[in-house]
Amino acid sequence: MTEALANPAGQPARIELRSVSKSFPTRAGDRLALDDISLRVAAGETATVIGPTGCGKTTVLNLVAGFTLPTTGEVLAAGLPVSAPGPDRGFMFQRPNLLPWLTIAENVAFPCRHGRIGGATRSRAEIADAAAHYLESVGLHDAQKLFPHQLSGGMQSRAALARLLIADSSILLMDEPFAALDAQTRLSMQQLLRRVVKTDGTRTVLFITHDVEEALLISDHVFLMSAAPGRLLRQVSVPFRGDENYRDIVMRPEFNDLKHELIDQLERLVPA
Ligand SMILES: Nc1ncnc2c1ncn2[C@@H]1O[C@H](COP(=O)(O)OP(=O)(O)O)[C@@H](O)[C@H]1O
Ligand SMILES: [Mg+2]
Repeated sequence: MTEALANPAGQPARIELRSVSKSFPTRAGDRLALDDISLRVAAGETATVIGPTGCGKTTVLNLVAGFTLPTTGEVLAAGLPVSAPGPDRGFMFQRPNLLPWLTIAENVAFPCRHGRIGGATRSRAEIADAAAHYLESVGLHDAQKLFPHQLSGGMQSRAALARLLIADSSILLMDEPFAALDAQTRLSMQQLLRRVVKTDGTRTVLFITHDVEEALLISDHVFLMSAAPGRLLRQVSVPFRGDENYRDIVMRPEFNDLKHELIDQLERLVPA
């Protein structure tokens, strides 16, 4: 196992937190949620944050999304300070949140409804082509004309992934997007994400999960956070994300050693 910085020298950092602390006001006074977090995710890499519930994982994503601002420290996306949400950063939540009165193709095209894909003006036909392309890439080409209630949970999740991808955001922020899926569907979504992000090559992903195996299967780097207030405890470079077959990876002894080491470490963070 190698421990290294998420951003080796020379590569542009697409996501960066510099000494970020965040506290929220409560009736009992300010409550510290994040304590001096510094992390970097290089362009094109996938990083996962794991940590006990309430440790501030969602707060980290919300800061990068620009939904909330740090109390102290700096958050940068593509080298620029984050002050508000923007189309350069796409967000995927645990629920697919598809609009029930639109078809799957219309749902996927929804981020482009103002005639733009990312920053560029596009015709209706070009947007429809893009929607078809991403539906194809998530294996939903047959479901274009169906409505969300006609899809299984896993298919809805695929549609939400296609809708995330169509907006052409260079940064993808994913907050436990597969947590509600059954084990089989979850596995196929993990493989899909790996494949799509790899083929695409232009996305930087910051992913939150409770699941150590998921973190090791989809990411280049894993950040382990302490219990609240969240601090960065450990940063692991994951050697398994190459183009190897999924089954081969989970059979490797190094994979299982690292997985159990991280699970043990996580368990020790949660009070019995
Ligand atoms: N808007 C908010 N107001 C007050 N407290 C908040 C707010 N958002 C998050 N928190 C607190 O910050 C801590 C971290 O929350 P969160 O980032 O959601 O944790 P996680 O995603 O790791 O479970 C928790 O104690 C939570 O109650
Ligand atoms: Mg959360």
